[in-house]
Amino acid sequence: MTNFSASIANPNQALWEKGDFTQIAAFMRQSGEVIVESLGITPEMKVLDLGSGDGTTAVPLARLGAQVVGIDIARNLVKAGNQRAAAAGLRNLTFQEGDACNLQGVADHSFDLTLSVFGAMFAPKPFDVAKEMVRVTKRGGRIVMGNWIPNDPTLVSQVLKISSAFTPPPPEGFISPMTWGVESHIIERFGQAGAPKEKISMVKDTYYFASPDKSPTQFIDLFEKYYGPTMNAVDAAQKSGRAEELHNQLVQLAEAQNKSKDVGVLIPAAFMRVTVSV
Ligand SMILES: C[S@@+](CC[C@H](N)C(=O)[O-])C[C@H]1O[C@@H](n2cnc3c(N)ncnc32)[C@H](O)[C@@H]1O
Repeated sequence: MTNFSASIANPNQALWEKGDFTQIAAFMRQSGEVIVESLGITPEMKVLDLGSGDGTTAVPLARLGAQVVGIDIARNLVKAGNQRAAAAGLRNLTFQEGDACNLQGVADHSFDLTLSVFGAMFAPKPFDVAKEMVRVTKRGGRIVMGNWIPNDPTLVSQVLKISSAFTPPPPEGFISPMTWGVESHIIERFGQAGAPKEKISMVKDTYYFASPDKSPTQFIDLFEKYYGPTMNAVDAAQKSGRAEELHNQLVQLAEAQNKSKDVGVLIPAAFMRVTVSV
C-alpha cells in the first residue's frame, strides 16, 4: 500500500506516521521511568504496552525484567522501538504493529498488566478499546491508562486545544480522544467492557517534559515539525495565513509553563491516571 492509500484506509495510522513522535518522546523518558517504578513490576510479569510509541514506558518495564510487548499503530515507531530494544540488549521486549480498537491475534487473558500512557486514548473507537484492554488482561490483573484531561490548563491539553482551533473540524461522529480524561466516560466505557465502577480508580497525576538544553521555542518547533496533531494544525494555518499566530500561541504557552530556572525545559502536564482491576 502506498502512504497515500494507507492514509485513506486508516487516518488514525496516518496521523501518527505523519511525524516522528520519537522527537517528543525524548522529553518524556524520565516521567516514563517514574510511572513504571510506581507499578510494582516483578520479573516474569507479562505486560502489554498499548500505543507504546518507541518505548518510553516499555523500555523501563523491560529493564525491570517483565516480558513486554509494545503494540502501536505507527510502523515507524514500531521500528524505532525495536531498534531501542536491540540497542539496550533487551530480549524480553518486542514491538509490533497493531490497533487498540481490535487486537486481533492477541489471545484473551494474556497479560498481568495492560498499560497505555497517552496511547489507546488516541484510537478512534473508545468502547472497542476498553473491551479489548479488558479482554487481553488476565483475571486478577490490571489495566493502567494515562489520559490527557480536556480543558486542563497545562501543556498537552492546551497544545491539543490550540492545535484543534487551527484545524478543520473533524468528520461527523468523531469522538475526541480527550473524552478519555473524563470520569463519566471512563466509567461508561469500562462498564460496558465488564469492569464495574468499584473496580476503577482515577487520580490526577503529573508528567514532566524535560530537556537540559532545548529552549521552550525549540521544544515547540519539534511539536510543529513532528507531532501529528500539531503538524495538521500548521498545515491548515499555513493555508489560511495564520501559521505565525499559531506558532506564537504555542511558544507563549510553553514559556509560561516552563519551570526550568536555567536554559532548558521542565514543563508539567496534568493527566488522569486510571487503574482498572480486572
Ligand atoms: C502521544 S503518543 C505516546 C507514545 C508512548 N506511549 C509514549 O508515552 O511515549 C501516542 C501513541 O499512540 C499510538 N496510537 C494512536 N492510535 C493508536 C491505535 N489505534 N492503536 C495503537 N496505537 C495507537 C501512536 O502511534 C503513538 O505512538
